[in-house]
This record gives sequence, C-alpha cells and structure tokens, in this order.
Amino acid sequence: MGMQTHINEDRNMSEHLYNPDILQKLDFSKSPAVFKPKISAANPGAEWMVVRPLQRADFDKGFLQLLSQLTSTGNITRKQFDERFTQMKMSGGHYVTVIEDTRSSKIIGAATLTVEQKFIHNCSLRGRLEDVVVNDTYRGQQLGKLIVVTVSLLAQQLGCYKMSLDCKDKLIKFYETLGYKLEPGNSNAMNMRFEDPS
Ligand SMILES: CC(C)(COP(=O)(O)OP(=O)(O)OC[C@H]1O[C@@H](n2cnc3c(N)ncnc32)[C@H](O)[C@@H]1OP(=O)(O)O)[C@@H](O)C(=O)NCCC(=O)NCCS
Repeated sequence: MGMQTHINEDRNMSEHLYNPDILQKLDFSKSPAVFKPKISAANPGAEWMVVRPLQRADFDKGFLQLLSQLTSTGNITRKQFDERFTQMKMSGGHYVTVIEDTRSSKIIGAATLTVEQKFIHNCSLRGRLEDVVVNDTYRGQQLGKLIVVTVSLLAQQLGCYKMSLDCKDKLIKFYETLGYKLEPGNSNAMNMRFEDPS
C-alpha cells in the first residue's frame, strides 16, 4: 500500500515514458522512406504537430480512442492506464511514441517500439514494431510513414541489430517502402491465442 501511495503522489501529467531528446536527434536521411514534402520527428511539417513519447496526460488526449481504431482496448480506467505507464517506465524497453495535434490536444498517431534484451549476437538488442495507427481522418498525409520511421530510427539509435513487425498482407508494400523486407522462408507469423479478446 505504501508503494501504491508513493506512485500516485508522484504522478505528473507531463511526465514522458522515455527521454524525448532522443527523438529530436534522429537522422531521417538514414531512412529509405521518401517524404514529399520532407518531414522528420523534429520537424513534422506543421507547427501544430508534435512527435513525442507517450505522456500520462495522453489518457485525456484520446490515446486509447486512437488505439481502438486498431483493435479492442476494453474500458481502461485512468488508474489502470497510470499503473501500466508506471510499469512500462520502470521496466524499460517500452517506447510508445505518439503524434499530437496541439490545436485540439488530440493524439492522432501512435506506434510502439519494444526492445528485447538477448544473449545471442553478443548480448544484442532486438526491436519490435507494434500498434501502429493513424487517426482515420488524418490518413494519407505521411503520418503513418512519419511515426513508423521515427520508431525504426529510434531502434537503430538504441543499438538494436534488427527491427521486426507483423502486418496484414495489404500493408507489406507500405512497410517495404520504409526499409522492411519479407525474409524468404522465414516470414511466417504464428500465434497461440490464450483467450477470446471479445
Ligand atoms: C497503416 C496506417 C498507419 C497508414 O497511415 P497513413 O498516415 O495513412 O500512411 P501514409 O500517409 O504515411 O501512407 C504512406 C503510404 O502507404 C500507403 N498506404 C497507407 N495505408 C495503406 C493501406 N491500408 N493499404 C495500402 N497502402 C497503404 C499510402 O498510399 C502511402 O503511399 P504513398 O506514399 O505512395 O502515397 C493507417 O492506414 C492506419 O492506421 N490503419 C489502421 C491500423 C493498421 O492497419 N495499422 C497497421 C497494423 S500492421
């Protein structure tokens, strides 16, 4: 109980999940993605747009509503959100990254980089790209590319030797333009489901 009280007292709505400085330094010229016009995480192309780590305040900025355009989220309370944020931050390796429209204070895009620690390849790090989504009214304006390239360059910057993702067939071309490749003989996504999410 003491621990719980401590966490709640420390809650700071503008607290970032990870250090935002690293996003400002990403070199978008290292990505094969073509941006027309040119944009980056530091300069996303409009003064009302910002690319940054998840914040606690994003519970009130439509982050979960955005995720519900991707899959079912359930009815997550502020307390649950806060506790998961704290757990992710304490355990490390969770880089939930968002695009905010600061005019409306709404989260309009998101992607997560999860970094796994390995013994193989000389104690390497492997990145996984997950939960990529852009608000449907903002699609087709390079924001999908922007958020995916941001977390992919972040993985490289953090020292990952590779970045992996699972996607629907119709998105293969999209990810290929961003530097991802199907590996012949090694591109079979398999899952074991333990419960019905509905
Ligand atoms: C996939 C998604 C993130 C793309 O976001 P977006 O902001 O529309 O993407 P962009 O504007 O950066 O598009 C980049 C390119 O990919 C293409 N593209 C985007 N979504 C596509 C789709 N669903 N199918 C085929 N091509 C697609 C665009 O035509 C564009 O091509 P261009 O640069 O030659 O014009 C967005 O459609 C989305 O949130 N979809 C629902 C959730 C989802 O499927 N997530 C991915 C799970 S793997």
